[in-house]
Amino acid sequence: MNDTPHSPGPGETSGQSAANPDIAALNDSGIGTSPQVQARLASVMFTARYHGVELNVESLRLRPDEPAPSPPVLVEWLREAGLWARGTPMNFRQLMRIDDPAPIVLLLDDGGAAMVVGRNREKQILLLRDPRGSASDPMVAVDELRLKQVWSGGAILIRASRAGVEGDPPMNIALLAKLIWSDKAILRDIAISSITITMLSLVPILLVMREISAVLQYKSTATLDMIIVILITVVTFEALLTWGRKMMEVILAAKLDSRLNLIIFDRLMALPIEFFERQRAGELTYKIQQVNLVREFLTGKLMNTFIDVMMLTILLPIVFFINATLAWTVLIAAALIAVIIAIFLRPLGTLTGRVISAESGKGSVLVESIQGIKTVKALALESSRSADWDRRVAEVAELNIELGSMANWPTALTLPLQRYCTYGAVTLGAFIALHSSNAAFDAGSITGFLMLGGRVAGPLVSLASVMEDVQKAQAAIGQVGWVLNRPNERHALTHGLRPRFEGNIEFDDVTFKYEGTKSPALDKMSFKIPAGTMLGLVGRSGSGKSTVTRLLQGINRDYSGAIKVDGTDMREINLRHLRKNFGMVLQDNFLFRGSVRDNILSGRPGLSFEDAVRAARLAGAEEFIERLPNGYDTFIQEGSPNLSGGQKQRLAIARALVSDPKVLILDEATSALDPESEALVNANIQRIAKGRTMVIVSHRLSSLLDCDLIMVLERGRTVDIGTHHELVERCAIYRHLWFQQNRHLDPEGYANNAKIAADLT
Ligand SMILES: Nc1ncnc2c1ncn2[C@@H]1O[C@H](COP(=O)(O)OP(=O)(O)OP(=O)(O)O)[C@@H](O)[C@H]1O
Ligand SMILES: [Mg+2]
Repeated sequence: MNDTPHSPGPGETSGQSAANPDIAALNDSGIGTSPQVQARLASVMFTARYHGVELNVESLRLRPDEPAPSPPVLVEWLREAGLWARGTPMNFRQLMRIDDPAPIVLLLDDGGAAMVVGRNREKQILLLRDPRGSASDPMVAVDELRLKQVWSGGAILIRASRAGVEGDPPMNIALLAKLIWSDKAILRDIAISSITITMLSLVPILLVMREISAVLQYKSTATLDMIIVILITVVTFEALLTWGRKMMEVILAAKLDSRLNLIIFDRLMALPIEFFERQRAGELTYKIQQVNLVREFLTGKLMNTFIDVMMLTILLPIVFFINATLAWTVLIAAALIAVIIAIFLRPLGTLTGRVISAESGKGSVLVESIQGIKTVKALALESSRSADWDRRVAEVAELNIELGSMANWPTALTLPLQRYCTYGAVTLGAFIALHSSNAAFDAGSITGFLMLGGRVAGPLVSLASVMEDVQKAQAAIGQVGWVLNRPNERHALTHGLRPRFEGNIEFDDVTFKYEGTKSPALDKMSFKIPAGTMLGLVGRSGSGKSTVTRLLQGINRDYSGAIKVDGTDMREINLRHLRKNFGMVLQDNFLFRGSVRDNILSGRPGLSFEDAVRAARLAGAEEFIERLPNGYDTFIQEGSPNLSGGQKQRLAIARALVSDPKVLILDEATSALDPESEALVNANIQRIAKGRTMVIVSHRLSSLLDCDLIMVLERGRTVDIGTHHELVERCAIYRHLWFQQNRHLDPEGYANNAKIAADLT
C-alpha cells in the first residue's frame, strides 16, 4: 500500500471490497459507487461499530448529484443511530493530542476519507487506516507534511452517546459545578492572577504605611520619587492582570453559558409532547430562563466571594500585625454583620420564592395573550386579559415591596457596623496611638489600617450574603430541574429497531386513557390494514380519531395491548426512525420562519431542491408557490400571515411528503379549507397515496370516498370497518353521518335520519 493516504482510483476498487464487509454491503445496496463515497461511508460505519452501533446503509439519504456525502449528512446518519457525532475543523496538533483511542474520521480533500487509529507522539506521526482496506491491512504512518497534501482539516468526531447509555444526570447545582470544574485550567489561572493582584494591591498600601512618616517628617523628595515610580509600576501590572483575569472570567462564563444552553435545549427536545401539552409555554420559558440566574451567580458573585475569601488569608495576618486589638474589633463587627444577614436569610428566601412564582404566572399571561392575540382581538377579550394582567402585576408589585422592605432591614442594621470597620476603627486607632507606648503604631499604621480594614470586613460580609444567593440559586435551579428532570423519550429516541417500513399497521386490543381522565379514549381497539391501504377514520367529535393517529406517532406510549407496524411491536421501534418515516399533517400546522424551500425541506440533510419541488408538485402546492413573489425563496414570516389557509396546508403536506414517508397521516388536514382548496388537495390524494399507507381523519365524508377502507369509531371503539358502500348499507352511525352531510341523496327523507339519531343517543 502506498504510504500517503488517498482514496484509491476506480481501478483499485474490486481488490479491496472483498475483504471489507462494509464495502461489500455498500456495493450490494448500490449506494455510493464511487471509491470516495465508499471510503467516507465505510469509515463512518467502522467507527460506529467501534462504539457498538451497526449503521444501516438503507437509512442513509444520499443525494445522487452529490459527489461525496457531506459532513451534515454523515453526522445526521450517526445521530439517528444514537451516537454522538460532530463535524469539526481540526489540525494535526489537535489530532496528535487526543488521548481517546477511538478512530477519528478525516474527510480528505478528494472526497474520500481516512481514519486516525493511533499516534506516535515521539515521532509526531499519526497512524491511519484506509476505510476501504481489510482489517488485516497495515496502518499507514503519516507526518504533518504528508497529511497536509491530502487533508485540509475536515474531521468527524464520533462517540458513544453518554446520554443514551446511562440516562441524563439530573439538572442541579452539582451538575453546574461539574460543568464549571471541567475548565480547571481557566479556574487555576483565575486563582493565580487573583492572588497576584491582591499581593500587588498590597504593595502601595504597605509602602505608604512605611514611608509616609519619613516623607512628611524629613521632607524626603527622593523617597517620594521612589514611591511614585514603584506605585506606577505596580498599578500598571495590577491593571494588566485585572484585565487578564476579567477576560478569563468572561470566557469561562461564555463557555459555561453555551454548554448549558446546549444541554438545556437538548433535554427540552427530549421531553414528550404530552408534557408540553399540559404546561403553559410562558411558565416553561420562564422556568428554564432561571438557569441564567444560576449561571450568573456561579461565575459572578460566588466566584468573586471565593476570590475575596482567598485574599483574606493574605490580608488577615497583615492587619493583625499592624494592631491586634483593632483587628479583633473589625473581625467582631464583621461577624455581627454576618449574623444579622444570616437571620434574615430564611424569610427572605421564602419571599423570593413567592416573587419568582408570581413572576412566572405574570409571564405566562403575557405570553398567552401574545400567542392568542387573534382570539383576544376577535372576541374583544382585551379588557378581561388586561384585568388578569393588572391583577398579576399588582401581586408582583406587592410582593416586591414586601421583599424590598424586608431586605431593607439587614441593610440598615448592618450599616453602623460597616461604618465602624472603616471610620470607627481609625478613631479607635488614633485613641490607641495617643495612649500607647508602642512607637511603631503611628500615623502610617493608622492610614494602613484605614485602607485595609474595609477590605477585611467586605469579604466576610459578602460571605454571609452569598449564602442567601446560594439559596436563591438553589430555588432557581429547582425550577429548571422541575422542567428538565422528568422522564423523557431519549431512550426511545436513540434506541430500538430501525426497520425498513412497508406500512402494514395492526392495532391489537389497544386501550388507552389520557392522564387525568376517567373513561378511556381508546377502548379495546383492534384492526389491521395491509401496506398501501388508504384508511379513512370517521366518528363524532371525541370518538378517538386523533388519539389513534397520536398513538401511531408514538406521542402517547402508555397504552395496553399492542400496535404493530409490519409485525413489529411499535414500542420496540426507534421513535425518531418511526416519526421520520411517518408523515403527519394536522389541521393547523406550524410553519417556521424561513423560505418556502427551507420550510419544505425543514433542515433534513441529504435532501435537495429537486426533492422540495417534487414534494410541492405532489401536494398541489407548486402552482401557487410559483406565483409567489420570489417563488421557492419567498420568505415566510412567523405564523405565516402572507399565506392563505389552503396554501399553508398544501405546504405542510409537501413538508410531510418530502422525505417520502411510508405512512402518511392526515388529521383533519383539509377541514379548515375552502371547497376549492380542499378539492385541489383531494384531487392529489390518489397520487400522494401511491406506494404508501394513508390514514385520513376527516369530518367531511365526501373526501373519504376514495378510501380503500373506512373505519367508524364511537367512544373509542371500532364500530365497523369497510368500504363506503358497505358502510352505507350496514352501519347506522355511518349512514346517519353520510346522509346528514348529503341530504339531497337521502332516499327516505331527513325524518328517518332524525330517528336514527335518536336511536343512537
Ligand atoms: N390531551 C388530552 N388530554 C386528556 N384527554 C384528551 C386529550 N386529547 C383528547 N382527549 C380526550 O380523548 C377523547 C378522544 O379524543 P380525540 O381527540 O381522539 O377525538 P377526535 O375523534 O379526534 O375528536 P375531534 O373530531 O373533535 O377531533 C375525548 O374524549 C377527549 O376529551
Ligand atoms: Mg381530532
